[in-house]
Amino acid sequence: MAKEVRKRVLVTGGAGFLGSHLCTRLLREGCDVLCVDNYFTGRRANIFHLLDDPHFETMRHDITFPLYLEIDEIYNLACPASPIHYRFDPVQTTKTSVIGAINMLGLAKRTKAKVLQASTSEVYGDPEVHPQTEDYRGRVNPLGPRACYDEGKRCAETLFFDYRRQHGLRTKVARIFNTYGPRMHPEDGRVVSNFIVQALRCEQLTVFGDGRQTRAFCYVDDLIDGLIRLMASPDEETGPVNLGNPVEVRVGELAEVILGLTGSRSSIVYRPLPADDPVQRCPDISRAREVLGWEPQVQLQDGLRHTIAYFAETLT
Ligand SMILES: NC(=O)c1ccc[n+]([C@@H]2O[C@H](COP(=O)([O-])OP(=O)(O)OC[C@H]3O[C@@H](n4cnc5c(N)ncnc54)[C@H](O)[C@@H]3O)[C@@H](O)[C@H]2O)c1
Repeated sequence: MAKEVRKRVLVTGGAGFLGSHLCTRLLREGCDVLCVDNYFTGRRANIFHLLDDPHFETMRHDITFPLYLEIDEIYNLACPASPIHYRFDPVQTTKTSVIGAINMLGLAKRTKAKVLQASTSEVYGDPEVHPQTEDYRGRVNPLGPRACYDEGKRCAETLFFDYRRQHGLRTKVARIFNTYGPRMHPEDGRVVSNFIVQALRCEQLTVFGDGRQTRAFCYVDDLIDGLIRLMASPDEETGPVNLGNPVEVRVGELAEVILGLTGSRSSIVYRPLPADDPVQRCPDISRAREVLGWEPQVQLQDGLRHTIAYFAETLT
């Protein structure tokens, strides 16, 4: 009888918010999953439910150092994603994006693996066009406090396209927009987790600016589905592909919705906008619809209910 051949998939940043959901989904799809993480922002609690699975393996490793293993596919998610965390050690953030990408591309080259980069809407910086399409080249301040992340991710994209042109690698680039859901870090300062944690703790909800700036929020299950589809797409499909929810919500409105769903009696306070904070960010997902047959399915209220339930359980 033929032996079952399982795909060996490496997820860097696998103990983080998105990575842990991706590992869970890949195991469900019958893959052998190796989670690599240095636990800078990732937590063992995020992957605790996977530790007994014989097809799951975890390794503490910093991707700024080379990694030698046999693998079929690589999802490169390792990188702190929230401003609080990526600004904590900006030089390490740039190293993780740039040297980490070189190491993962080197591994893909040696093993002939397919490799997907988790890029970000931050490559568009503070955009002059709305919504953002993939051919928009962005408006990033290379000297500002967000540059370690934005420029690091832009350089990683360049590397992905150069390795493809120069070495014939099968590469994919996903530009991820604001994503939320269970296992977000409670202290990461991102707007959804901030508001939920503040509401559940009956603290004031902090809105930066006047609350009229918009964001578009994608539920984590939808996002993971987009990443899996992109990896499974034909080799010619390189991306970049925007993955996000195109439904815009004012930040002030989001605060009100969360107050309603949590039943919290917290009030809202307004604080000045941080430097380089974009006033509007919204994906054009026409390309994802066309080439991946993908679009978000989960309504904001439903996604928020799941996320609130998670925080209500973990904060107590
Ligand atoms: N969540 C979002 O809304 C969003 C939006 C755009 C892009 N992204 C991208 O998706 C990826 C995952 O984001 P997330 O929200 O899950 O963030 P996260 O901080 O929860 O996860 C990142 C993971 O990478 C690990 N990591 C960091 N540096 C590392 C290193 N040098 N070596 C090994 N592991 C390292 C962290 O410990 C963590 O587990 C990131 O690359 C991020 O830039 C996320």
